[in-house]
Amino acid sequence: MRIAISTGGGDAPGLNAVIRAAVLSAIDRGWDVLGIKRGFAGLLGEDEVIPLTRDSVRGIAHMGGTILRTTNRGNPFQYPVEQADGSFVEIDRSDELMDSARRYGIDAVITIGGDGSLLIAQRLHEKGMKIVGVPKTIDNDVSGTITTFGFDTAVTTALEAIDKLHTTAESHSRVIVLEVMGRHAGFIALHSGLAGTADVILIPEIPYDLDRVCEKVMARDRAGRHFSIVVVAEGAYPKGGEVSTLGESLPGQAKRVGGIADSIAREIHECTGKETRSLVLGHLQRGGMPTGYDRLLATRFGGAAVRAVADEAWGHMVALQSPHIVYVPIEEALREPKRVDPVHDTVLTARSTGISFGD
Ligand code: F6P
Repeated sequence: MRIAISTGGGDAPGLNAVIRAAVLSAIDRGWDVLGIKRGFAGLLGEDEVIPLTRDSVRGIAHMGGTILRTTNRGNPFQYPVEQADGSFVEIDRSDELMDSARRYGIDAVITIGGDGSLLIAQRLHEKGMKIVGVPKTIDNDVSGTITTFGFDTAVTTALEAIDKLHTTAESHSRVIVLEVMGRHAGFIALHSGLAGTADVILIPEIPYDLDRVCEKVMARDRAGRHFSIVVVAEGAYPKGGEVSTLGESLPGQAKRVGGIADSIAREIHECTGKETRSLVLGHLQRGGMPTGYDRLLATRFGGAAVRAVADEAWGHMVALQSPHIVYVPIEEALREPKRVDPVHDTVLTARSTGISFGD
């Protein structure tokens, strides 16, 4: 038996722990393991396919990033190819990929990725590839699993930032707006904001009204709390308005979302007269060592993915449905993306402890 592992999409702390657990579990069964570099680029001749041995995964469980590298511009069904005039066209290279996998003698593939990579996995499965998925996203926006590794690390990073911002915001009587990741889902903002006792949390699932945000800031001011912390998910948008995007993205890449913190800080200054500052936490949330929780979940996912291959659970992804790791059809997980439920207890508790969602 020869399996291959690939990591696709944005990285997330814990990827290396998944790779390590999968490689060791496969070797334990006497299987051969290959690593496809940079998403599926290795199989398309654009990067390498390397053997993964005990030595290749030694000492990597605590490391952020991925030893296999990754890309969010490598969809084999819509592969961006540069033309002589510098423009790009997207071509379907999936047949080439299937042939290449056969030539390498790959019997099954474990693909670790978010909704984009899981959709690619589903389509490859429909083409006959024996493939299982491992869900990965710091945004926690994949359905079918209670959580994904990387999310806890991102929340912890955001929480540290909120704690630090509190002291400086209070010293200067300022409103500080912190933008965290979450292009479609507000889980990082909600969890870090509630745990960090932010004053306002703005998420894509609850469009905001800036007047409500200003009311909250002024009500605190009147009560002698002259500073406020606003945590905003990058994909949050005002009622009747649009998500803020950042310039051009590269060929084959999704639109870049962001920049909302700066405009909210300006608007809060205009309506309250208070001094404001903003910052974007950005890719700090994707970097660094995975937390203990993420390392453990990633390791469990890696081991379970190899069991899924042994069980021939093709087209399924491993998922956490506490206390168990289960297999979920990828198609089912992709049917409805996971979003914050506006009446979830986390939101209710945030509201009842005085946090405004700007609605
Ligand atoms: O991993 C998902 C995500 O973190 C989104 O929240 C964010 O919009 C995106 O990645 C940023 O990706 P990139 O690395 O392309 O800037």
